[in-house]
Amino acid sequence: MNDAWWKSAVLYQIYPRSFQDSDGDGVGDLKGIVERLPYLSDLGVDALWLSPIFVSPMTDFGYDIADYTAIDPLFGTMADFDTLVEAAHARGLKVLLDLVPNHTSERHPWFEQSRASRDNAKRDWYIWRDPAPDGGPPNNWLSEFGGSAWAFDAVTGQYYYHAFLAAQPDLNWRNPAVMAAMHEVMRFWLRRGVDGFRVDVIWHLIKDEAFRDNPPNPDYRDGDSPYRRVLPIYSTDRPEVHDVIRGLRAVIDEFPARVLIGEIYLPIEKLVAYYGRDLSGAHMPFNFSLLETPWQAGAVGALIDRYEAALPPGAWPNWVLGNHDRPRVVSRVGAAQARVAAVLLLTLRGTPTLYYGDELGMSQVPIRPEQVQDPFEKNVPGFGFGRDGCRTPMQWDASLHAGFSRVAPWLPRGADAAVVNVARERDDSDSLLSLYRRLIMLRRSRPALTQGGYRPLEATAGSLAYLRETDDDRVLVAVNMSPNSVAIAVPEAVLGQKVLISSTSGREGERCDRHLTLHGDEAVVVG
Ligand code: GLC
Ligand code: MG
Repeated sequence: MNDAWWKSAVLYQIYPRSFQDSDGDGVGDLKGIVERLPYLSDLGVDALWLSPIFVSPMTDFGYDIADYTAIDPLFGTMADFDTLVEAAHARGLKVLLDLVPNHTSERHPWFEQSRASRDNAKRDWYIWRDPAPDGGPPNNWLSEFGGSAWAFDAVTGQYYYHAFLAAQPDLNWRNPAVMAAMHEVMRFWLRRGVDGFRVDVIWHLIKDEAFRDNPPNPDYRDGDSPYRRVLPIYSTDRPEVHDVIRGLRAVIDEFPARVLIGEIYLPIEKLVAYYGRDLSGAHMPFNFSLLETPWQAGAVGALIDRYEAALPPGAWPNWVLGNHDRPRVVSRVGAAQARVAAVLLLTLRGTPTLYYGDELGMSQVPIRPEQVQDPFEKNVPGFGFGRDGCRTPMQWDASLHAGFSRVAPWLPRGADAAVVNVARERDDSDSLLSLYRRLIMLRRSRPALTQGGYRPLEATAGSLAYLRETDDDRVLVAVNMSPNSVAIAVPEAVLGQKVLISSTSGREGERCDRHLTLHGDEAVVVG
């Protein structure tokens, strides 16, 4: 069954602050995105997911929301938003929004009321606890962004819980009024025509009812994020979270053809529970495992097998190579393997999500201490957790500000923007951008790549090979993750077929013999 649009789609994540500035304030905006829609059509993606664009003090750059149903003036107006949805839809592009239901900004009116007094009607919309007997925090839960997850509020003499910044108090999802309010937020945007949501930190939504201490993490090592000192088994991934997600999904299902995607950082075996009982949960719990696995054929092959085996019956897979929280893929695996990674991302079974700029090979931009914007980096400096380096301006051309803005952007552009940019790569058939375009085009034209099964083949050390096949379409993918050349045994089913794409180029059209020799760092698609 391959009915839903998102199963054959390629998703593209835009970090709105950094895609295109139209009004010359150095920060990207909605009008800027509208201007760049032709680029996205040309690339061939099917849907845009926008990181948060709602009214926010921007302490965590929009992941701290003060009004869920209004556009932040930095990004534009509601009219700009409607224009964006209309223009995207006119091109056949879907629009997904970021829903941030776990926490609000401390400046959200709900929290301002909640903190006003212990008997305020909104008190129980957030998570308030008395101090421990010694006056300290109620338990040992830690914030992902450093320090205790509890902040003391002197006005009412209690602590509130914040999984992230103190400026991001967690909502109490055990309160039905919170649930109802958030469902209304979803309906507001779904009625306006959005095609679905990526739900922020969905595995955090429900915390242990008894607020038990988290156990120490025996694997904690020097250099790990301080958050890892304890295992967050009582503060995240609670069994009741699946009831909450079923509720979000029910709202999605009130509207035709909408999609629910969840942000979840958990090991595969736990991740797949987020499809929900009888697939009543997220359509796609984001699969970040490629971001966390050593870039080596044995490890990646084993990971794919583990993921495929863990998927519940009927669950649709997905793959991600980058996002606004993790180092850029090219900086992690190098330029040659970034091309191999593109082939993997677009030929594995399931829906791929591309992070803006990765299709150009934009790298992690070094940020000087005085340029740091990310609150995580400011709270926990010196660990290299800063996320600014993967959030830098999209590199459109070789001009001073890379075509992103007419003024200096909010984060520095990459020093490689003179070479790594859309204008240059578009006209270069060997560029990474051209490789992405060809891969996306091929995906569209070959049912094996969107609907076909995944069959791993025996591969030589350092490489991976697999078949994607439907009843009457068949594609071989062979991926060399090493710098040495390797020979792949070509299965009977594709003997004599042609090389359709090579990541190192130059051999397209070559017919496949019993043995296919891959150059170092080469990936090919045959069919
Ligand atoms: C998610 C977002 C991240 C944000 C955090 C808190 O992990 O992707 O950018 O800082 O949630 O909302
Ligand atoms: Mg702007």
